[in-house]
Order: sequence, then C-alpha cells, then structure tokens
Amino acid sequence: MGDTISPETPASLRAAALAFDLRKLDRRFLEDPYPIYRPLREHDPVHRMCWSSDKKIDFRPNFADSLLYEHHTTSLVFNDPPYHTRVRKLLAPAFTPRALKALQPRIEALVDRLLDRAAERRRFDLIDDFAAAIPVQLIGDMLGVPSDERGPLRGWSLAILGALEPVLSREQFERGVTAVAEFKAYLVDLVRRRLNEAEGKEGEILSTLIAASDFAARQGERLSELELLHNCIFLLNAGHETTTNLIGNSIDLLIRNPDAMRELRDNPDRIDTAVEEFLRMESSNQLGNRRATRDARLGGADIPAGSYVHIGIGAANRDPAQFENPDRLDIRRQPNRHLAFATGIHACAGMSLARMEAKVAIGKTLARFATIERDGAFVRGGRARFRGFLHYPVRVG
Ligand code: HEM
Repeated sequence: MGDTISPETPASLRAAALAFDLRKLDRRFLEDPYPIYRPLREHDPVHRMCWSSDKKIDFRPNFADSLLYEHHTTSLVFNDPPYHTRVRKLLAPAFTPRALKALQPRIEALVDRLLDRAAERRRFDLIDDFAAAIPVQLIGDMLGVPSDERGPLRGWSLAILGALEPVLSREQFERGVTAVAEFKAYLVDLVRRRLNEAEGKEGEILSTLIAASDFAARQGERLSELELLHNCIFLLNAGHETTTNLIGNSIDLLIRNPDAMRELRDNPDRIDTAVEEFLRMESSNQLGNRRATRDARLGGADIPAGSYVHIGIGAANRDPAQFENPDRLDIRRQPNRHLAFATGIHACAGMSLARMEAKVAIGKTLARFATIERDGAFVRGGRARFRGFLHYPVRVG
C-alpha cells in the first residue's frame, strides 16, 4: 500500500482500497490507519487477498514448530468449541460481577498510588508509569504472581503478541519464542509452589484452573498441563496491552480534544459513555481473524469454505452507516454499538474488567490534575493489530 494512497480523488481512493495489502503496511498506516479504512469500507468492504487457510495451518509458515505455535494454537481465543467452551467456563468465575466488585477497591488504591507518584514528579510517562502498570498488577493478582516477581510480565506479553503481526521479522519471532519459553517455565514453577500450599486462594484464577487440570492429578481432566499454562499466558496477554492502550489512547484523545476533556472534567458522570467512545474511536484491537468453515456470503461477496478472513474492527467502528459523524469524538454518544470487544462466542471475556480499569484510571486522573498536557514526542506501538503508544510523555498541573 503506502505509495498507493495518493491524495484523495475518488479514483485514487478506490485504487488504494483495491491495492491494499496487509502484508505491506507502511509507517503512515501504522500511525493513522483511518484514511485507508474509509475507501476500503466504501469501495472494497470485503477485500480479497491471497491468504486462505486454517488457523493452525496459517500459523505454520510464521511459527513452524516453535513455542509460539504451541502457545497461540492452545489458547482459547484461537480454538473452537468444545475446547473453547471448556476453558471459557473455567475462566467465568474470575469475571462475575461479584468478582469484579471485589477488585474495584484494589484498582482504586493502585491508581491512587500511581497518581500520588505522578503528582510528586509532575512529568511522567503516561504509558510506562501509569497505563501499563494498572493491568499488569491486576492480572498479576488474578494469576497470583507475587508482587516482586511481576517485573518481566509486560515484556513477555509485548513479545508474544508482537509475534501476531501480519508480517513477522526474524527478531520479533525470536523474541516471541524466548518470551513463551521464559513465561512457561515461570508458570510451571508458580504452579508447583501453589500445589504445595494447602488451599487455593479465593478469587485467584490460577487456583481455579489448577484444580481443573492434570497438575492436580484429577481424573477426567478438563485441562492438560499445556492447556493450563498457555491459557494463563493468554490471560496476561489479552488483558495487558489492550487495557494499557485503552487508557493511553483515551487520555491522548482527551488531550487532542480539549473541549471533550473539559466536558468530562465538569461532568464526571459521563465517564460511562466516554469510555465507550474511546473504545470506538481508537480501538486497542484493530484487527480480528476468522476462518470460514463453510461457503458463505458476506457483504455481497462469496467467501469459500477455508478462507481466512481479517475483520476490520477499527474500520467498522468508524463506519458512517452505523455512527453519525464517525471521526468526531462525542463522549455522550448513544447508542454506541462499537465492536471493540468483538462479538459472538469469542467476545472479550474481560470487557467489564477493562471498562472498570479505564473508568477508574481516567476518572481519577481528571479529578486529580487541573491540566494534563503532552510533554514531548510520543512513540507509537507501530503495530497494525494493536493500536497504542509505547511512550507518551505528559506534564500535569
Ligand atoms: C480495552 C481492553 C480490551 C480489549 C479492547 C479487548 C478486546 C478483545 C477482543 C477483540 C477479543 C476477541 C478476539 C477474537 O475473537 O479474535 C478479546 C478476547 C478475549 N479477551 Fe479481551 N480485551 C480487552 C481486555 C481484556 C482483559 C482485561 C481481559 C482479562 C483479564 C481480557 C480477556 C480476554 C479473553 C480471555 C478473551 C478470549 C475470549 C474467548 O476466546 O472466548 N480482555 N478481547
């Protein structure tokens, strides 16, 4: 693509849409994908590329027999029922309204602590010092990872998800494999320690999963050791970068839209609709994937069985047929039927937790500081699938 998006005549936009190739993304797209989403939606909403394969087959060329292959083909998100249903049921207790209510005071205390530190320094990195610290601690709690052992979690998660990019460099691949190896070894040790304790810990998802696994040496096992380990790894990955990006992207949106910042500051009760709008405008997860299991028709195009389909979540969330004035941030937008958490049986299991984290983090940040400004150049994550910042210096007053 890249060079093919020339300034906006209808013909050039159509040509850009037709020439779009997920395997050839340039910096411009990674910084701002919305200008190409628009012609894709208008001219080629079911865009054909030459990929067509089973997910397990599709991962072979990039991952071969590596630990990345083992991980990504064992986590629930890349599996169908009945395995998917089994794991999803086991995770359910961690995400009930009761479990989430119990987490809320912890999230609040954590955010307060981070904001205290930020208030002392006045200048800090929105991502490293704030947005990324929140989900890592929460998932660390859910998995029962002791506080002083959480250091590597963020790096592992970034490396494993980085390996899901449409095009994978050798370096990304190797970083991903090493991260799975280290994380897996760490979890084996953590599980052994947990097994030596008499009782599982209330509300800790790791204990629930262990009790349902081969580790607990029960018969009629519902989870093998590998399944247990890879779903724990997936939980961290699913809940970490996405939530970090939601918090970072939301505050960036407010900085870029001072009227919205003022409105939310003056009307903190608009936080619910505001967070939905942040999720829509800058979805942390821009792309999904599915494989057609039978011949289908979608948006007027035939999709033969076996086709690999990329789902443009970020493009759907700016669709003018669904959202009036889609490129405008409207923190009161209602209805707001965005697809940031996807839909169907794989819809995000952690959406209520993610919403809660974002509301507490953004609400408390606005309440604490009269001004929040950018304080230098930011660094984007540079990914097509996960949209967010790696670094974003801010100054608060
Ligand atoms: C803003 C934050 C988040 C966003 C935008 C997000 C988005 C998504 C999306 C789009 C999917 C579907 C993926 C697919 O079908 O291909 C998904 C699945 C999932 N998410 Fe999230 N997520 C977020 C936070 C979280 C959190 C905090 C957790 C848990 C701690 C979590 C756990 C999961 C799980 C377990 C799945 C797999 C569900 C399944 O396959 O049945 N997510 N998420």
